[in-house]
Amino acid sequence: MDTQFDPLASIRDLLGDDPAPTTVVPATPEEVATFDDDAMVCTCNNVNAGEIRSLIRSGECSSLDDIQVRTRAGGGCGACIPFVAGIVNVELGCCGGK
Ligand code: FES
Repeated sequence: MDTQFDPLASIRDLLGDDPAPTTVVPATPEEVATFDDDAMVCTCNNVNAGEIRSLIRSGECSSLDDIQVRTRAGGGCGACIPFVAGIVNVELGCCGGK
């Protein structure tokens, strides 16, 4: 009997055989507006909303991919990706952003 603990086993059980979701549903501009710059968006990689906004506003990043490569936001558990994507959308002024 295998007694090794698998922390993701229950998540896989919930998902069944479905492939991992490939579509990101970004946070809405209204949700993003509730994040002040100090709000920790990605706890896995210690990235706050202000860092994401700053990188977009400075022109150093111009997409979600850029932000992920630069900051590693979303590269851990992935739970923050909708929030990161929402901030990027708002900063780029697309998808109902500013
Ligand atoms: S909270 Fe961002 S990858 Fe886990």
